[in-house]
Amino acid sequence: MERPYTILSCATSVDGRIDDTGPERLRLSNEADFAEVDELRAGCDAILVGAGTLRADDPRLLVRSPMLRERRRGQGRTENLLKAVITRTGDIDPTARLFSTGDAGALVYTGGDGLALAEERLAARPSQDPPAEAVDAGDPPTAEAVLADLAARGVERLVVEGGGHVHTMFLTSGLADELRLAVAPFFIGDEDAPRFVMPGAYPYSPETPMSLVEARSLGGVAVLRYCLKGRA
Ligand SMILES: NC(=O)c1ccc[n+]([C@@H]2O[C@H](COP(=O)([O-])OP(=O)(O)OC[C@H]3O[C@@H](n4cnc5c(N)ncnc54)[C@H](OP(=O)(O)O)[C@@H]3O)[C@@H](O)[C@H]2O)c1
Repeated sequence: MERPYTILSCATSVDGRIDDTGPERLRLSNEADFAEVDELRAGCDAILVGAGTLRADDPRLLVRSPMLRERRRGQGRTENLLKAVITRTGDIDPTARLFSTGDAGALVYTGGDGLALAEERLAARPSQDPPAEAVDAGDPPTAEAVLADLAARGVERLVVEGGGHVHTMFLTSGLADELRLAVAPFFIGDEDAPRFVMPGAYPYSPETPMSLVEARSLGGVAVLRYCLKGRA
């Protein structure tokens, strides 16, 4: 199957939590790490999150640095990435900032009854918003279908920025190429806090581990980069 080179990026606490249970998004990283993640984004064609992240954080998913946006323009690319959301239900907020910002449009991957609901929601967006389209990626949607569709649209490099269910989906599929983890030097310690990943059948076992290709400190945050050897 043709698919984009797929990088999973996530910031976690030492106890594997990617947020706390409070209403504000928890800062698990620092400016230096944010800048690296921005650079990582700028080198990709598309960025993907789950509907849970859309609801919790209302992210814009933009390239933040004007210099990086300028560099993309000079490369003949859009300033920002094509944005993508995965939802089973199609229950997405048409006023979410992800849909109203950027210059490359958005895709909503869903399936079954979710397709009609997502189309209905997207039709409720203001006409001046960038284009957005609902795409059938199976019921429930699969990483394989999403990646095949993105490849067919010319996406060569994808960054997946969570949340935990979406990281689980991509890691258990064996279809991701790289994992970049920023591990904050503290614990959350709350059973109800969102996790980096859920239980599942991961291809990366003690017998077939991931390859750690980089480990360094970035202002006290541990940046770990794993090769997932998943490229088929
Ligand atoms: N620290 C970080 O780097 C980071 C990054 C991103 C997010 N976060 C945090 O992560 C939390 C959200 O994570 P999350 O795990 O709740 O949500 P998520 O992974 O962002 O999204 C989960 C949603 O994906 C949809 N989905 C589509 N296909 C699915 C499938 N096959 N299996 C499971 N879900 C599928 C479902 O949407 P429907 O309900 O619409 O069907 C599901 O509710 C937030 O607290 C956010 O702040 C942290």
